[in-house]
Amino acid sequence: MGYIWETDNLVKNFTLSGGLFRPKQTVHALQGVSLYQAEGETLGIVGESGCGKSTFGYTLMGIHQATSGSIYMNGRQVDPYVQRDTTRDMMQMVFQNPYASLNPRLKINTILEEPLELNPNYTPRDRVIRVKEVLEQVGLDMAFGERYAHELSGGQRQRIGIARALIMQPKCIILDEPISALDVSIQVQIMTLLERLQALYGISYLFISHDLPMVRYISHRMVVMYLGAVMEEGPALDIYEFPQHPYSKALTTMVGQVVPRAPIGAPLRGEPASPLHPPKGCLFSDRCPEVDRRCLEERPPLREWADRRIACWHI
Ligand SMILES: Nc1ncnc2c1ncn2[C@@H]1O[C@H](COP(=O)(O)OP(=O)(O)OP(=O)(O)O)[C@@H](O)[C@H]1O
Ligand code: SF4
Ligand SMILES: [Mg+2]
Repeated sequence: MGYIWETDNLVKNFTLSGGLFRPKQTVHALQGVSLYQAEGETLGIVGESGCGKSTFGYTLMGIHQATSGSIYMNGRQVDPYVQRDTTRDMMQMVFQNPYASLNPRLKINTILEEPLELNPNYTPRDRVIRVKEVLEQVGLDMAFGERYAHELSGGQRQRIGIARALIMQPKCIILDEPISALDVSIQVQIMTLLERLQALYGISYLFISHDLPMVRYISHRMVVMYLGAVMEEGPALDIYEFPQHPYSKALTTMVGQVVPRAPIGAPLRGEPASPLHPPKGCLFSDRCPEVDRRCLEERPPLREWADRRIACWHI
């Protein structure tokens, strides 16, 4: 099975503009991320707030331009200058906040038809048919098309967010905290819908979340990120049950305590490292219970270990 997308050493820096007495600063949001995704697979990304999960999604989509590194789609390297056009049909994104991500002034039909208008293969009649079809796929009556986003509940809005992502029949949907703004009972409905859509259409999901048990539940493979880099990657259940990397171990032992807007590593002991000044050696070195001299000097590469990849000198 081929990969839908692959990244090689993806780096994304943000430059914070300085002031009169303040120099410019660089936020090291992604520090060399090499990942891939197979067709029909759900790849989960976990890690605390600020570790670069959303930045990875945006950079893969071409919403942010990578500082360096390569992105491949269907085995072909993507030209950064036309990346957004290349990814548009293949990859769509569902955002965390269904209240903010839909234009309140537009009817649902108009919101859903918008991406189709860019595609000359769709006549106006085709667009109407496709919108009706996609509303059905997400479990909504076609009458919802005549409503405005503000008239819908959070769960219904997120169904529209998913419908908007589905409408161009992408191979992969990036779900950035798709259920964290919803009530628990609605979360279950949305997760069930996502699973059904994957079973029917073989879509791949890149599922980004703080919620480790949720990621374990929905994902085939899981990536544990810290400070813009991959610490451990492999089969989701194995990593959840038998974490190897010291950071994965810390994350799994504090399940249930991860605070959505907490700074990086807040529930762990010690001060969180800043993405403005990441440690020279291992990115986790300033809070790792197993740190030694080498960890402080050299950054461990992501190395194969059984059917996983782990970045730690001690494994
Ligand atoms: N547009 C931007 N300009 C400057 N810094 C940014 C920008 N977007 C993200 N960052 C910084 O990049 C780092 C990674 O942020 P990102 O939003 O990707 O993290 P995240 O893992 O998605 O966090 P959360 O779980 O809170 O959504 C953070 O330090 C953040 O402050
Ligand atoms: S490389 Fe060293 S500091 Fe980093 S996770 Fe492994 S033991 Fe801890
Ligand atoms: Mg985010």
